[in-house]
Amino acid sequence: MKFDHVAVAVKNIDQALAVYTALGDFDVRRTEVPGQKVRIALLKVGDVNIELLEPSSEDSNVAKFLRDRGEGLHHIAFAVEDIEQSMKDLGAKGFHFLYEKPADGKFGSRVNFIHPKDTGRVLVEITQERQDSPTGD
Ligand code: CO
Repeated sequence: MKFDHVAVAVKNIDQALAVYTALGDFDVRRTEVPGQKVRIALLKVGDVNIELLEPSSEDSNVAKFLRDRGEGLHHIAFAVEDIEQSMKDLGAKGFHFLYEKPADGKFGSRVNFIHPKDTGRVLVEITQERQDSPTGD
């Protein structure tokens, strides 16, 4: 397991990007994940990333998060080699997942989330990068 990213829920991704790019000179990639109803800006920081998440729909989980808690830290994510195996191993230890099967993540990755009630209210993502991805996202 490797640390992969920390995700921040934001109302406006362009405004948030302006703040972060004032902090430092990051490589930025943008994408959208329709299945999760989010727009994403990924800021590369060494081997890991900051993921800015803006809801693309009012019924997005991130929109609900913003209504309930406001902007701020949303989840942390670990990269795993084999997401099915990780789900099996973690499930055997009593962790519950939000999805029965891995969902589509950004840039062809497959993801799932451990229920925050199992992790002290911190939403934890596991992500398996696309197999043929040379850059590793
Ligand atoms: Co994430």
